[in-house]
Amino acid sequence: MIPTYDEGWHEDAVVYSLDVKTFNDSDGDGWGDFQGVIDRLDYLDELGVDCLWLRPFYPSPLRDNGYDVADYRGVDDRLGTLADFQELCERAHDRDIRILTDLVFNHTSSDHEWFQRAREDPDSEYHDYYLWTDDLEGAYETINIFPDREDGVWTYDEAAGKHYFHQFYHFQPDLNVANPAVQEEIFDVLRFWIDQGADGFRIDAAHPMQQAKGHHGHRLDDPMGLFKEMRRVVRDEQGDAVLLAEADDQPENLGHYFGDGEAFDLLFNFVLNVHLTYGVGVKDTWPLYRANEILPDIEGFGQWATFLRNHDEWNLLKLPNETIDHAREYFGDEEGDSWIFGRGHRLRLADMYDADHDRIAMAHSLLLSLPGTPVLLSGDEIGMGADLSLPERESVRTPMQWDDSENGGFSSADPADLYNPVVDEGRFSYEHVNVADQRDDPDSLLSRVQRLVHAHHDHPVINDGEYTIVDSGHKDVFVHRIDHEGTALMCVHNFADEYREPVVGFEVPDVATEKVVGTGGYHVEDGGVTFLLDPCDYVWLEADL
Ligand code: GLC
Repeated sequence: MIPTYDEGWHEDAVVYSLDVKTFNDSDGDGWGDFQGVIDRLDYLDELGVDCLWLRPFYPSPLRDNGYDVADYRGVDDRLGTLADFQELCERAHDRDIRILTDLVFNHTSSDHEWFQRAREDPDSEYHDYYLWTDDLEGAYETINIFPDREDGVWTYDEAAGKHYFHQFYHFQPDLNVANPAVQEEIFDVLRFWIDQGADGFRIDAAHPMQQAKGHHGHRLDDPMGLFKEMRRVVRDEQGDAVLLAEADDQPENLGHYFGDGEAFDLLFNFVLNVHLTYGVGVKDTWPLYRANEILPDIEGFGQWATFLRNHDEWNLLKLPNETIDHAREYFGDEEGDSWIFGRGHRLRLADMYDADHDRIAMAHSLLLSLPGTPVLLSGDEIGMGADLSLPERESVRTPMQWDDSENGGFSSADPADLYNPVVDEGRFSYEHVNVADQRDDPDSLLSRVQRLVHAHHDHPVINDGEYTIVDSGHKDVFVHRIDHEGTALMCVHNFADEYREPVVGFEVPDVATEKVVGTGGYHVEDGGVTFLLDPCDYVWLEADL
């Protein structure tokens, strides 16, 4: 069943990001699979999310967790078949849960047939799918996105006898997205996955896609033109399909990605991400004020996809310089081993907040009460931690911890056969942190996140109303308010480790206010509301004005 047609569904959705490989293994081979996700749809439904973003599941040598795609139309057979993918879409749609898949068009894997043909035959049409130079001296240079892993953006290929251009790892040659034939391939791939049941796409690396590329450092003449065309293609297939951009670009450029309402529907808000997660961690609200100042106003033509953490490193570069140094120290592990690519920590939220479930819940409350489409990272809702013994960003990509049985209930395979090992040591071990323990406990992190997801759903005003930050009189208490057609939602978050009692103006009679969700107390009198907040308390208050 296709979910009810609803052009604005993404505006009120809560998205859940998961990797099929590490979510749930149904056949005991140590790799998560589509049937495993189907088996856990009850859990996702109960949590209240209405969209799953599936990270890449295509055939791939997995040298970058699947962001090195070797075949855009296939499914890694350890994860299932195309029919399994279709079944997941159908079963999810039965519950009004939509599916976004991740599509990587900035580059392919060097194993992709296009690249193999391109390197073997310079006369092949595929040669111009990529970017080459035989004159390194004269070639355009730019910074590689993984500066401590790669020497630059050019790598020599023996078969071609030339160097090819890559902004990411050397095994991810950049596609020449300016080539009309490549653009046609992109459109065909988009159509293909909509036909299989997808409701939209996370477009990976949308910023590098439109950067200067190749020998002459050529940019797309009209980058938004390509994105608009991609959106037109998916909308022609399914009228309410959406495109979500991953583009960690400078704040002043972000507004362009929406193409005046004709390109991306959603854009990850990396600026808010780092300021919010940092602010909650260091118990200070100034970063949220700063984020608000530097972000463009996108009202009327686009919406942010907001998040606390994702499956990559927690990139700090959008903070002021001195703050980056502080965040490196403050959140890093003692050995400095969590620091990567000269810009971020390969840690999960629970590591950064010292396993404090009150603080993690409060951060989720803030995320879910701010304007935007919240995107949750699988495992954060129960407070999973990172495994720094794994290479690079795999540290934050360990299997979901379902219960305290072997392999955390993720798989019945021999632990040695798991795609990534389960966290089985220390305070984040599956014995201490798992879904089963938290599911029936109303005070657990999971139950709190679940209540917040439902509260978000019940309040579409969060994205329809007018958002303002309210001065709380305390640098560690953040208050914001959303007004819409005679109602107001007032949300307060105490970042401090101590009790706080902020008083803010609120011209409403006591009887007209209702607590939506939250742990703190309040009383309304004389045109103001006083909040009674223990450390990490939050309250959402609704009022008829
Ligand atoms: C995105 C992905 C990241 C990947 C990169 C290259 O940033 O989130 O995991 O390494 O693109 O595809």
